Amino acid sequence: MKLVDNKATLSFSNGSPSVDMPVYAGSIGPDVIDIRKLYAQTGMFTYDPGFLSTASCQSAITYIDGDKGELLYRGYPIEQLATNCDYLDTCYLLLNGDLPNDKQRGDFHKLVINHTMVNEQMQFFLRGFRRDAHPMAVLTGLVGGLSAFYHDSTDINNPEHRHVAAIRLIAKMPTLVAMAYKYGVGQPYMYPKNDLSYSGNFLRMMFGTPCEEYKVNPVLERALDRIFILHADHEQNASTSTVRLCGSSGTNPFAAIAAGVACLWGPAHGGANEACLNMLEDIQRQGGVAKVGEFMEKVKDKNSGVKLMGFGHRVYKNYDPRAKLMQETCDEVLKELGLENDPLFKLAKELERIALEDEYFVSRKLYPNVDFYSGIVQRAIGIPVNLFTGIFALARTVGWIAQLNEMISDPEYKIGRPRQLFTGAERRDVPAGFKR
Ligand code: CMC
Repeated sequence: MKLVDNKATLSFSNGSPSVDMPVYAGSIGPDVIDIRKLYAQTGMFTYDPGFLSTASCQSAITYIDGDKGELLYRGYPIEQLATNCDYLDTCYLLLNGDLPNDKQRGDFHKLVINHTMVNEQMQFFLRGFRRDAHPMAVLTGLVGGLSAFYHDSTDINNPEHRHVAAIRLIAKMPTLVAMAYKYGVGQPYMYPKNDLSYSGNFLRMMFGTPCEEYKVNPVLERALDRIFILHADHEQNASTSTVRLCGSSGTNPFAAIAAGVACLWGPAHGGANEACLNMLEDIQRQGGVAKVGEFMEKVKDKNSGVKLMGFGHRVYKNYDPRAKLMQETCDEVLKELGLENDPLFKLAKELERIALEDEYFVSRKLYPNVDFYSGIVQRAIGIPVNLFTGIFALARTVGWIAQLNEMISDPEYKIGRPRQLFTGAERRDVPAGFKR
């Protein structure tokens, strides 16, 4: 970041002395006011719950222009990456800063593929869970559990260890997600098969059985790969910030990623794709397209507590560029599987049509986000609804680990420690007669 020839001056109406604060510029995007010395100079904190105006770090990985609807990974537009690269190229880019050349590409693919298997003991750990446990509960445990299995890559101050932990996580996530699925449906785990692509391998581990050969459908393989690319990173969102904050204490990297998985689970974040599909199924049960108008009235009624899931975004105040790409994939997959007349897809289209015209949504700049379509694609592929967020976690792991590693190698990095505005009871004494 570079110092800008500009400064911010904060003045107070009660006559306290005003303070000057430096302003820094990034390469693109809004400048920032450096308030690090504010408390020392004024004895005051800033108040910004939800981080609406606060940059928590400097980062060179992902950039979003929410008003334009633009998403760049290391400077490359998501549209170009989604059409010209595969997920592992994207992982290489996010971790290393540039796209790989042919040799780097070959080596990176080989490296990831050589780490896809998990310690055999993992399956006994998995066996401790109920078969009907939510896959995100299982995944939070399994990813945290990796810290107990891979001690030799947990010195976060060692760049080599950080690299090995990153590769292990990227390589093993598909295996763990597929194991969580197979455990729930009571089928044998499928070991990874390393002559398949990253997403082809995942499809086989999910839907193959030892009884017969599994043939990967290239349309579904491409669709899944695109889902992975679109979810690979998204700047300082809730789960990424969780990983950074958790990792800032110097904790084990697998444990920090497990914290990200836990945060992602919530319906306002990664759980939105599951919530979106549940919403579509609910409307379908109540009468489908004919009931859309009634449902939209509920969404607009603030007292109903009903939200149009898959719509709205903290950062995008324009069409989410990932949603456009996902919509294309959705069309391809439904065509390939002969599901063009799928009632849920028609319902989603109708909801989108109304929302894009309705004053409530237009005036609040609420557009479909990636989750609006990714759920439909995943459902068509055969992924159960409660595993959608697990797929998101698999794809986002590279973003989390790239951001964690960036933070640790930043010389300005400090343990994260937000302040608060205290509104509770002032000092008081325990009543004299309380001790029994
Ligand atoms: N349905 C109906 N109204 C909405 C919605 C929605 N989905 N989203 C926002 N609003 C309204 C909100 O009630 C508020 O209205 P008003 O100004 O009258 O009080 C206005 O729009 C602004 O909303 P906000 O809550 O201030 O916006 P936010 O930035 O805090 O929330 C959000 C962003 C994603 C949490 C929210 O839009 C939401 O809950 N959407 C549904 C869940 C969803 O799809 N989440 C996935 C996000 S994309 C995946 C990811 O990147 O993690």
